[in-house]
Amino acid sequence: MRIYLSEAGVISLQQPEVFDRLDLKIDPMPDDRRARMLARLGRAEGEEHIRLDPAVLRFLSPLAGAPAWEEGFALMLAKAAGAGWIDQAGAVRAHVVPTAQARRIDANTFRATFRNLAAGVSAITTGSLEDPVGMVASSVVSISADPPLVGVLVNQTASALPYLRQQERFAVSVLGQEHDELMREMAQEPQGKARFRSADWQEAESGLPILPAALAVAECRLIAESALGTHLLLVGLIERSQQRPGLPLVYFDGGILPVTLNA
Ligand SMILES: Cc1cc2nc3c(=O)[nH]c(=O)nc-3n(C[C@H](O)[C@H](O)[C@H](O)COP(=O)(O)O)c2cc1C
Repeated sequence: MRIYLSEAGVISLQQPEVFDRLDLKIDPMPDDRRARMLARLGRAEGEEHIRLDPAVLRFLSPLAGAPAWEEGFALMLAKAAGAGWIDQAGAVRAHVVPTAQARRIDANTFRATFRNLAAGVSAITTGSLEDPVGMVASSVVSISADPPLVGVLVNQTASALPYLRQQERFAVSVLGQEHDELMREMAQEPQGKARFRSADWQEAESGLPILPAALAVAECRLIAESALGTHLLLVGLIERSQQRPGLPLVYFDGGILPVTLNA
């Protein structure tokens, strides 16, 4: 098995079912970030090793608890103990393997690339009708039907983010073609009531501000968040939803795309 600390800030366990190898792969990153990421897992020993509590590996392994995995894991630890890789505190030593600088596009090329991805637009709201907080997002993704999960990627600098995290609830209102003014208002006005001026927002049963005229509304409870580069993936469990027929607002190449439905 191999722990992977990616430059994007994600820690994952690769090949948890492989027991004849334990190492830690780490992307190039500034020294202070590298030290902080390693400290989340254990104690660095020089440049080339890290000491880990085996509980960390169990925590990272999606297979932990399965009898076959537990058996292989116990054998792996026994072998490591025999080889002298486990200290008195029970921490196992793993080799740190730096990855080469991966080929990548720069941020401007990234933006130019994804300007060409047409996307629906939603209003993400939290707070209440009295004290509303909102933003528009094209990054809404339906994740899973059972359990019903929706995701949205929110810039770490977005003014709505601290409220979304603190309230632990948010609503997704999927905008229709007629909501272009609302989209501009939400993207450009200062955070708060000014972003909710032009449309008929209502308070849902959950207390969240929702747009009943939206093509779809999902009221969510925040169940997970994960930092990915400049953004944070927020995952919501959908508690209530509603929908109505209509044509979507589609954002493309910095503007709104007129859409018609081929009957
Ligand atoms: C069509 C459109 C889609 C957007 N999608 C996202 C998105 O998915 N995630 C995000 O964080 N910001 C997105 N933004 C930007 C936010 O709406 C907002 O402007 C930005 O987070 C800064 O907001 P602030 O002034 O509240 O800090 C989008 C803006 C537009 C106009």
